[in-house]
Amino acid sequence: MAQSSASSDVPNMGRRQFMNLLTFGTAAATAAGALYPVVKYFIPPSSGGAGGGMIAKDALGNDVVASEFLAEHKPGERALAQGLKGDPTYVIVTEDNEIASYGLNAVCTHLGCVVPWNASENKFICPCHGSQYNAEGKVVRGPAPLSLALVHANVSDDGKVAFTNWEETDFRTESEPWWT
Ligand code: FES
Repeated sequence: MAQSSASSDVPNMGRRQFMNLLTFGTAAATAAGALYPVVKYFIPPSSGGAGGGMIAKDALGNDVVASEFLAEHKPGERALAQGLKGDPTYVIVTEDNEIASYGLNAVCTHLGCVVPWNASENKFICPCHGSQYNAEGKVVRGPAPLSLALVHANVSDDGKVAFTNWEETDFRTESEPWWT
């Protein structure tokens, strides 16, 4: 008697579990579908290419085109783009109106605030605890312990701004890069 009751329960449990799985699977698929555009925004299709390089993205997720960037920004300006690993990274316009060969990771080396460029002071000044970095991102006032991380910036064959990892000596301090 007990045996038959137990055996009749088994298929019921199996069906319920199957239905639960189906419901969960549907919910997960829906969630993944909803998240996909968000995730896609943060993982540019060009990331993970040779040498870890990627095309810089603007705030809307579009590739940064050098000629357009130079038309919109004056010599000496530093403007944020999305860089390696999605980090906010400054693209720099040189005094000769070209894209500088390096970009600066905008994440403060103290506690990680994004550091704005202050054109009138010609410095990056962190709003969180007052750290300051010169125009090349070298730390000139604490509490930040280190300079802003460098990346290489160049213009690709199709005219887009591309970032690659900076693994060489830090030209501002003549020391090994702390970020590699
Ligand atoms: Fe920038 Fe503290 S996070 S000074």
